Amino acid sequence: MKALTQQPAFKALQEHFEGIKTAHMKDMFQADPQRAKRYFLKNGSVSLDYSKNRIDDTTLKLLRDLATECGLAEKIQAMFSGEKINSTEERAALHTALRYQGQEPIFVDGLDVLPQVRQVLERMEKFSDMVRCGEWLGYTNQVITDVVNIGIGGSDLGALTVCKALHHFASPRLNMYFVSNVDGTQIQGVLDKIHPETTLFIVASKTFSTQETLTNALSARQWFLAHALNEAHIAKHFVAVSTNKEAVQAFGIDTQNMFSFWNWVGGRYSLWSAIGLSIMIYLGKQNFKDLLCGAYEMDQHFKNAPFECNMPVILALLGIWYINLFDAGSHLIAPYDQYLRYFPRFIQQLDMESNGKSTTLEGQAVDYDTGPIIWGDLGINAQHAFFQLLHQGTHISPIDFIVSLSKEGHLPGHHDILVSNMFAQAQAFMQGKDYNLAYQELLEAGKSAEKARTLAHHRVFSGNRPSNVILLDTICPKSVGALIALYEHKIFVQGVIWNINSFDQWGVELGKELAVDILARLKGEGLTKPQDASTEHLIEVYSAFNKGL
Ligand code: F6P
Repeated sequence: MKALTQQPAFKALQEHFEGIKTAHMKDMFQADPQRAKRYFLKNGSVSLDYSKNRIDDTTLKLLRDLATECGLAEKIQAMFSGEKINSTEERAALHTALRYQGQEPIFVDGLDVLPQVRQVLERMEKFSDMVRCGEWLGYTNQVITDVVNIGIGGSDLGALTVCKALHHFASPRLNMYFVSNVDGTQIQGVLDKIHPETTLFIVASKTFSTQETLTNALSARQWFLAHALNEAHIAKHFVAVSTNKEAVQAFGIDTQNMFSFWNWVGGRYSLWSAIGLSIMIYLGKQNFKDLLCGAYEMDQHFKNAPFECNMPVILALLGIWYINLFDAGSHLIAPYDQYLRYFPRFIQQLDMESNGKSTTLEGQAVDYDTGPIIWGDLGINAQHAFFQLLHQGTHISPIDFIVSLSKEGHLPGHHDILVSNMFAQAQAFMQGKDYNLAYQELLEAGKSAEKARTLAHHRVFSGNRPSNVILLDTICPKSVGALIALYEHKIFVQGVIWNINSFDQWGVELGKELAVDILARLKGEGLTKPQDASTEHLIEVYSAFNKGL
């Protein structure tokens, strides 16, 4: 494929950009009373207001042309049909098969993957039913009250995010914990709260070779055996979720208690697979199915809707507009919902591990920017923390605001306040406040003209800072499933435009490799090759500090 910067549509966009880059959104709204309604989409329980972007109809058309020139339609087709689009690992990227609700087969290497997907789903359902209704008993015949998911990255964040987002659908009888950090204080903190006779550990790891997960799982196993004394009891208290049967066996977990998935499921795209076992146990099988259905609805929309009303495509193209034309290096995720507090962190992995690449599919270095730095937090808290920079700082970071429409279940008054703040922030970022208004307000507040003239400069808001507003009807399994799928597809579209592989993650490997030798040095084991001067010095300082320990 031609480099992005050489695509005719990209050159047309650059030209168009020169004409529109200083235009103010305030004026765009004034010129087009229908803008808010025209730049608004709804699909199922998810709506997108993208009117507060520095775009016009020409921008959108040129962006769509770019998508077409980059072969987006063909790439979408390739992904859904199981082609090995993860070329560096020679794998399909078929997370959509995990939530597929139709009857058509989906082939990988000539084999329809759906029967195995449904078989694992059924096993998960049976198992989670047993745990939830108290039929699955621990080694002293007590019911399970605590479930601990041990995993990291994609084997942690997706399930954690969904469990927290849908906490109000969870079984009140079960406590769910997530352990990811190899810092022993995390697992110790959990072990201090639970009891070996009533706890189920889910060891979740696609490769079953991840150091942090295996170390935590071993500590859990030791803690358990210190009480249970008999390895035969492990079967009642440890299950594994993995693609690696041999490693699960070697770890000492009976493969009867293993839930499989496949190498065509990327780690950060795996919450829909058996990696979602913790979700299913916590929320129940119907809620898990609804989560899958919500994602499926978004899949269908993405696959079939024309680009001009395709939510993931529009979000992706807007991102391209800011990253590649406005040089915006970051993107903020701001949920206005306490239950969605882990969502920014989840999207951080999903986006940055997918599109944090600088080599094209053909192995060339890119000469344009790719995936942005994703950051974020609960919007309402961020307003009182870092929003200052977003309003008046020198950087532009487009924002996704996310909130639920429904007030149901909220304490009286709270949701209106939350939503009014979110709407107000999006408005302030768009409109800003000019010098004259700031000056007038200061005079009205009793300041002298001289004082007001100086102070007004500090109270100016340039505005024209872009944001999307994503509205979920309610926070429910379907809407959360659709929301996550929306971002998955947005990220995929951007990867297509940048001509990179969104489904590998070679960038995480180097550090893992280097840590092996360094760990051997810290433990004083054997001869290892010398490190660079800085690392040698750090090892010396650490070892000297811990001498004798
Ligand atoms: O180190 C990064 C990574 O490989 C992620 O891509 C993955 O989600 C995570 O580690 C966990 O890997 P695993 O599920 O194999 O333990």
